[in-house]
Amino acid sequence: MIKTEHLSHFYSVGTPFETVAIEDINLHIKKGEYVGVIGHTGSGKSTLIAHFNAILKPTSGKIFIDGKDLWSEDKKQRIQTRFDVGLVFQYPEHQLFEETVYKDIAFGPKNMGLSEEEIHRRVEKAMRFVGLSESVLEKSPFDLSGGQKRRVAIAGVMALEPKVLILDEPAAGLDPMGRDEILGRIREYHQETGSTVLLVSHSMEDVSKNADSILVMNRGRCQMHASVPEVFERADELEKMGLDVPRITRVFFALQDKGYPVSRNVFTVEQGKAEITRLLKEGGKNHA
Ligand SMILES: Nc1ncnc2c1ncn2[C@@H]1O[C@H](COP(=O)(O)OP(=O)(O)OP(=O)(O)O)[C@@H](O)[C@H]1O
Ligand SMILES: [Mg+2]
Repeated sequence: MIKTEHLSHFYSVGTPFETVAIEDINLHIKKGEYVGVIGHTGSGKSTLIAHFNAILKPTSGKIFIDGKDLWSEDKKQRIQTRFDVGLVFQYPEHQLFEETVYKDIAFGPKNMGLSEEEIHRRVEKAMRFVGLSESVLEKSPFDLSGGQKRRVAIAGVMALEPKVLILDEPAAGLDPMGRDEILGRIREYHQETGSTVLLVSHSMEDVSKNADSILVMNRGRCQMHASVPEVFERADELEKMGLDVPRITRVFFALQDKGYPVSRNVFTVEQGKAEITRLLKEGGKNHA
């Protein structure tokens, strides 16, 4: 679905401020994969994803979407990509501008030249995905709470029905309940539509709870791109990059090191509870 070859991006080329933001990224993201993109501030996450819908042009290297070279001579490919790859920016609520919530969500589909009927269908569907009720449709987006504004912005991109949905820190600045709610909604969207999803996040917990694979960025390089358990097996390397595996995962690693027959694939407290319950039950059986 998304492939990069030696992708690099430098900002302010030829000036004293030249910055290497990402360097020599070679990635392969499969159709329908849910990827968590993690890394420190300044590690290049936002720069990398902005290449996937042609907002940024590589300084060098290539990007292929569905096998097609994004920066080939044929401009049509890039125009199509703007619709195929939907990008929700960091703090997207700052980009709301229409008079009503309905018009804001409908803005993208309208630009695609769809019929009023189809636009209506898409707005309704996107609102359902993010959990906005009909009662806000005619309100000004500026009168909504922070969390609701965020949902309107996400719905606006979902309404494009992109093949790839990329969200840059969609839960940043929300309270813990708001975070879980929005991440849960995105997970449902992924399950229901089968689309490829990239979730940029600072939180290992959020990423491990939601994604199939983790892409670790470090100082502009892609250090790892593997399944969640595979990445957590490299806990020591993560630690050197200042990243950590979830605390609950560490507890289960330690239990196994002490000889308990527990799984190493425990990333959430709920999974931990289930694993301990299983162990206790089996322990009981063995004892009997
Ligand atoms: N518009 C820009 N002009 C110049 N340098 C930039 C620009 N945007 C980012 N950079 C630099 O490029 C590097 C990568 O930044 P980027 O924003 O991609 O990182 P990030 O991982 O998204 O960070 P954060 O977690 O803070 O959002 C950093 O050194 C940053 O200072
Ligand atoms: Mg960023």
